Amino acid sequence: MSGPAAPAVPSYEVRALAGIPEVRPGDDLAALIAAADPGLRDGDVLLVTSKIVSKAEGRIVRAESREEAVDAETVRVVARRGALRIVENRQGLVMAAAGVDASNTDPGTVLLLPEDPDRSAAGIRSALRELLSVDVGVIVTDTFGRPWRTGLTDVAIGSAGVRVLDDLRGGTDDRGNPLSATIVATADELAAAGDLVKGKAAGLPVAVVRGLGHVLGEGSAAADLVRAPADDMFRLGTSEAVREAVTQRRTVRAFTDEPVDPGAVRRAVAAAVTAPAPHHTTPWRFVLLESARSRLELLDAMRDAWVEDLRRDGKSEESIAKRVRRGDVLRNAPYLVVPCMVTDGAHDYGHARRDAAEREMFVVAMGAGVQNFLVALAGERLGSAWVSSTMFCRDVVRKVLGLPEGWDPMGAVAVGHAAAAPAERPARSAAAFIEVR
Ligand SMILES: Cc1cc2nc3c(=O)[nH]c(=O)nc-3n(C[C@H](O)[C@H](O)[C@H](O)COP(=O)(O)O)c2cc1C
Repeated sequence: MSGPAAPAVPSYEVRALAGIPEVRPGDDLAALIAAADPGLRDGDVLLVTSKIVSKAEGRIVRAESREEAVDAETVRVVARRGALRIVENRQGLVMAAAGVDASNTDPGTVLLLPEDPDRSAAGIRSALRELLSVDVGVIVTDTFGRPWRTGLTDVAIGSAGVRVLDDLRGGTDDRGNPLSATIVATADELAAAGDLVKGKAAGLPVAVVRGLGHVLGEGSAAADLVRAPADDMFRLGTSEAVREAVTQRRTVRAFTDEPVDPGAVRRAVAAAVTAPAPHHTTPWRFVLLESARSRLELLDAMRDAWVEDLRRDGKSEESIAKRVRRGDVLRNAPYLVVPCMVTDGAHDYGHARRDAAEREMFVVAMGAGVQNFLVALAGERLGSAWVSSTMFCRDVVRKVLGLPEGWDPMGAVAVGHAAAAPAERPARSAAAFIEVR
C-alpha cells in the first residue's frame, strides 16, 4: 500500500577525509586532497583547517617568542588580561593571540594564519575543479573562543563558492511574524559542522559536507562575516573601554542639530554623582536646560553681565561688540547643563587658611563630578564642552534659573552630537607628568 510521498525532511551528512599526509611548506593542498580519493560531488562543501593552509603557504616564521609574533600580527588590541590578548589581526579577525599558533611547530618558529584566507579558499576550489572536475564550495576554518559563551567552535575565516551569509530579513517565520534582523552565518555553521568530525588531534584536517548544495553561490567571502566597526557594539574589552572612555573625552565645540536624549544625560548624572567628595557629602547638582527658552534667557543674561564687566575693564564698545560676536560654544549647543556646587556639608574653621582649603576640597570634588559627567556623556556618544562662564556671574545665573543662594554654578556644559571628530592630539606620556620619590 503506497500513500502520497512524505515531504522531504532536510538533512545533510558530514564526514572527515582520511589520508591527508603531514603538510609541508610548498605542498599543493588541492593535489593532496585530490590524492586522498575524496569522492567529491558537485555541491559538496569542503571544510579545510587553516593550519594546513598556513603550512602549505609557508606561513611558518621565525620568532623569538610567540608574543613577538602576536605583536607583529596585531592591528588593534581589543582586550588584555594578563598574558592573554584578544586582538584584531591583519586579516581583520578579532581573536586570541592574533591567530598565531605555536603548537606543533619547531622551537623558534610560529605558524601565522594564511595571508588572505579567502584567496586561499578560492585557490583550492579552482584547483579541485581542474583536478576532479567538481564544483564544490571551500571554507577555510579556524577555532575561535567567543565572548559570553564558554567553549571553542570553528568558524569560517576563508571561503569560496559558498554564500557565507543567508539574509532572511524581509521574510516571515512559520507564524507569519516578520524577520527583521535574521542573517544566518551559514559559513560559520558549516565550519562548526566540520569540526565535529575533524576533531582537534585526530590528524583529520579536512571534512566534507554533502546535501546542502543550496548554500553554494558566488559573490561572497568570509571577510563579509566580520562586523563593520560602526555596527560593533562591543569594540573593546571592559578595562580597555574604561580607559578609552577617559582618553576619548575631548572638548567638542561644534554640534549637529540632532537632539540630545534626556535619558542619556540623566544616566551621565547618575555616573557623575559617584565621584569622590569630602566628609561623605554629595556636593553636586546639575541644572538641565532642556527648553530653548531657558537656554536663551540664561545666555542673554550672561552676555549682559559680561558686557558690564568689559565696560568696567575700560574696553571700547567696538572691542566689546567684537568679543560678544565671537562664536559662542554655549549658544550653538542643542543642550546645556549648569553644574552647581553646594557646600552645606563643609566645616567652618573660622580660620582663613583652613577655610580656603575646605572650599578647595569641595571645588576639586566638583571637578571630579563634572569629569565623571563628561566621560559618561562620551560613553553615550555625546560630545561636550565644559566652559567657565557661569562662574563669573553666579548671582545672575542663580537669579535667571531660580536657584537657591547656596548653589554655586561651576561653569556650564554644552552637550550635543559632535559635528566633527576632534583634532588629533599626540598621546601624552605619563613620564612627563611624574616625579617618583
Ligand atoms: C574649568 C574649565 C573651564 C573651561 N572654559 C572654557 C571656555 O571658556 N571655553 C572653551 O572653549 N573651553 C573651555 N574649557 C575647555 C578647555 O579649553 C579644554 O579642556 C582644553 O583645551 C583641553 O582640550 P580637551 O578637553 O579636548 O582635552 C574649559 C575647561 C575647564 C576644565
